[in-house]
Amino acid sequence: MKAQNILAVSVLGCSFGLCQDNVNWISVNEDNPSFSLSSSNISYQFHVDPLTLDLVHDHWGAYAAETVPDFDGVISGWGGPYTYRRREFPDLGRGDFRVPAIHIQHSDGDTVSAFSYTGYDVSAGKPSLPGLPATFGGEGDVSTLIVHLYDNYSNISADLYYSIFPRYNAIARSFRITNNGSQDVTILRASSWSVDMPNEELEMIDLHGDWAAETRINRRSVVYGEQGFRSSVGYSSHFHNPFLALAPPSTTESLGPAIGYSLIYTGSFSADVERWSTGWVRVLLGLNPLHLSWPVAPGDTFTSPEVVSVYSEHGLGGMSRSFHSLYKNHLSRSNYTFETRPPLLNSWEGLGFDFNQTSMVNLAEQAAELGCTLFVNDDGWFGTDYPRNNDSLGLGDWTPNPAKFPDGLGPYVEQVDNITIKNSSEHMEFGLWVEPEMVNPDSDLYKQHPEWCMHAGTHNRTLQRNQLVLNLGLSEVQEYIITVIERILDSAPIRYIKWDNNRGMHEMPSPSANHAYMLGLYRVIDNLTTAHPEVLWEGCASGGGRFDPGLLHYWPQSWTSDDTDGLERLYIQFGTSYPYPPSSMACHVSAVPNHQTGRTTPLAFRAAVASMCGSFGFELDPSTLDQDELDAIPSLIATQQKINPIVINGDFYRLALPDQSNWPAAMFVSPEADSAVLFAFQIRSALKPIPPPLKLQGLDANAKYKVGNGTWEQTWYGSTLLNVGLSLGWPQADYQSIILTLDKQ
Ligand code: DGJ
Repeated sequence: MKAQNILAVSVLGCSFGLCQDNVNWISVNEDNPSFSLSSSNISYQFHVDPLTLDLVHDHWGAYAAETVPDFDGVISGWGGPYTYRRREFPDLGRGDFRVPAIHIQHSDGDTVSAFSYTGYDVSAGKPSLPGLPATFGGEGDVSTLIVHLYDNYSNISADLYYSIFPRYNAIARSFRITNNGSQDVTILRASSWSVDMPNEELEMIDLHGDWAAETRINRRSVVYGEQGFRSSVGYSSHFHNPFLALAPPSTTESLGPAIGYSLIYTGSFSADVERWSTGWVRVLLGLNPLHLSWPVAPGDTFTSPEVVSVYSEHGLGGMSRSFHSLYKNHLSRSNYTFETRPPLLNSWEGLGFDFNQTSMVNLAEQAAELGCTLFVNDDGWFGTDYPRNNDSLGLGDWTPNPAKFPDGLGPYVEQVDNITIKNSSEHMEFGLWVEPEMVNPDSDLYKQHPEWCMHAGTHNRTLQRNQLVLNLGLSEVQEYIITVIERILDSAPIRYIKWDNNRGMHEMPSPSANHAYMLGLYRVIDNLTTAHPEVLWEGCASGGGRFDPGLLHYWPQSWTSDDTDGLERLYIQFGTSYPYPPSSMACHVSAVPNHQTGRTTPLAFRAAVASMCGSFGFELDPSTLDQDELDAIPSLIATQQKINPIVINGDFYRLALPDQSNWPAAMFVSPEADSAVLFAFQIRSALKPIPPPLKLQGLDANAKYKVGNGTWEQTWYGSTLLNVGLSLGWPQADYQSIILTLDKQ
């Protein structure tokens, strides 16, 4: 008889069509150790090789009742036995010639590791990761399996943490390395997730880009050899996002299997996919080895960041909805995650650095006339000896510029707060921009503490945007930032903070400085967001340079791109929505011709695109708008505010991608499918072909829905909307948009 250890937990609800009771989420066969993390939708399975005590992967995907090894026979070839195994935690130096998940250098210089299985633990719930952002959940949400490995030659233990979130078809994974020896060791490579998938035809989907061109969807075949992408920027970066998906070529937005992987981390990362001679596909996601070399002293532990993987049998759309729901419910810890966000006006594109208290209050008054309820003073408000009148001055000196704000922030914010919003009894609220991780050489801070910036000995300290990165790995820098932000928040009623970050890391004192910086950054942000949950925090890094799950743990939203052109934003927002919920995107309407692209699109189009995000606003000087535009804005805000709750709380369906259709469309459906909002766009006016019917998703087929836009309405069955679709009539004009609401009758 085989011994079974089963953790039984009762699931409290249903989602994604999944309802379960008393499901055994983690089962362990102790005789021939094998492990299964399963719900009725997914299974993640592996076993211990009885000869080598290595962990061998069996299955990750749709639910399977039994663990069946993929290939248990002998495979002959030039590799060692470890080469011809689908491994769970591949180390280096024993004849597995693929890219390893873990690579450790010992004090005598060798880099061989020999981890063997020693035991396991199972617990309900999920432990937190010391110093790192991670998913969280209680006993009814998640269960955790910890598998213990030991390298007897070097006295290093590895504990692999697997947590299953059954409601979201998700597995979270990280590991801890403990040095039980008497000499220092160095971790050269740490991939939080590693899995060897079977020999199947696969495509890899990831998001690449650059400044003002983030999250372009990249889909290609997984071929023999290594393929992957990385950020060596020091941050998650615009160039590649720490996310990838693997799916058969037949998988579409709504059909077929897909597995997504998302790294909860803000620093340099590496995603490596390697198809080996056997056809097996190794998937690694974790820290970038170029920015690691992490020393672990005797008795110390290193914790890897966490990767979340989700399985979907409803295409890439299903994968995204799993990520969205998991991240909203079990990653984001902000009070605002499920809250409607205030419509705002941000000063950056309208006034730049050229303002003073009078012009700012005037801008806030114009914002109130339009119906905005939050006014954000962007860059340029600080600096005394080096006033921030352009981007070469003042970063680091977080005191209000006395030439612009003679009495400091307090009286200025009071003036803004006294402004009444048009047609409302509400008063304006105030938000402020900061960039605390940076310093200009022309600043009091740099003159006092030149050693605080990231630098490498006597190497040149290369400037980018005229600034240097402060080394947040230093505790004195962490304390400085906490103190200055606390002082700013104490000086005036500040409702919102936009935390910007505008360059990558160049010269670093050592490769490990990047991870030390991240631990310092997380400490600072953890401290401030815990102390100030009432503040609406927004991340930004020259647009979407740090749109990653690490920061979404602390901040509910992030500025999506500095490219505010409506058309470009469609591509960027659809791409960003692969892993990240639209509720976490901040999107603004700017003036035309657009600052970045020179393109002119209608105001209604720009507003519709921006309304697909959690945080909506304007980034322009209203005094430059014509009267028609000024007259239109209040009703655009009213529409946006009406649909904002469902944009924030609903399930998101990409109906047609801008990459593939002249008529891109998306919709949000409430969790009970009793209401929805549809966004549809026409990019170019086209006589032929005519638009395809727009088949909706996520509705109750048997229910009737009233579909309308305020001036027109019609009632249809869900089955008609799902299976026949809407034929929208488009005017003969470029850049058109339609927003329709659907209410169950
Ligand atoms: C880059 C951001 O992405 C912009 O929105 C703006 O805040 C500027 N920095 C200010 O310097």
